Amino acid sequence: MQTTLVIIKPSGIQKGIAGRIISRFEEKGLIIAGMKMMELNENILREHYAHLVDRPFFPSLLRSMMATPVVVLAVKGVDAVAVVRAMTGATNARNAAPGTIRGDFGMSGQENIIHASDSPENAAIEVARFFKAGEVFDYTPCTLPAFYAPDELNS
Ligand code: PPS
Repeated sequence: MQTTLVIIKPSGIQKGIAGRIISRFEEKGLIIAGMKMMELNENILREHYAHLVDRPFFPSLLRSMMATPVVVLAVKGVDAVAVVRAMTGATNARNAAPGTIRGDFGMSGQENIIHASDSPENAAIEVARFFKAGEVFDYTPCTLPAFYAPDELNS
């Protein structure tokens, strides 16, 4: 199984849809292995968005991500990184397909509701960036056999 990072951004918090977003992951069969509310500061955002610091929109992105606390989730499942990215939709929410989280709840490239890790390598780095040791839990929901065949769980 993989564990991936989701941030419910201030645009999702302001709209009051954090619960609906979390429900989507639960209904899909993904495991919520970690969840907390936190305020982001410039240090962690400069690290998280290091590839974007020279882009003209970076100051605006910083302000946007610090506008309210966020909810961070460690979401677990077989192929969780790709599954969550598919559920997230295109970066610009105006281009995101209906049925995706951004496609259903957003209209913006910046105010695009959630962040989701884009590769297993980055997922491991990002989960460790936002969660301390002991904040991501290893448990087995009793519903697991309803979501997977036994051989899929061994993958
Ligand atoms: S890239 O290089 O533009 O494709 O960058 P990407 O890795 O997709 O990350 C884009 C993140 O920056 C946020 N953002 C914007 N993107 C594009 N245009 C504008 N104006 C902009 N402003 C902010 C965007 O929400 C992406 O954040 P995440 O958290 O990765 O979804």
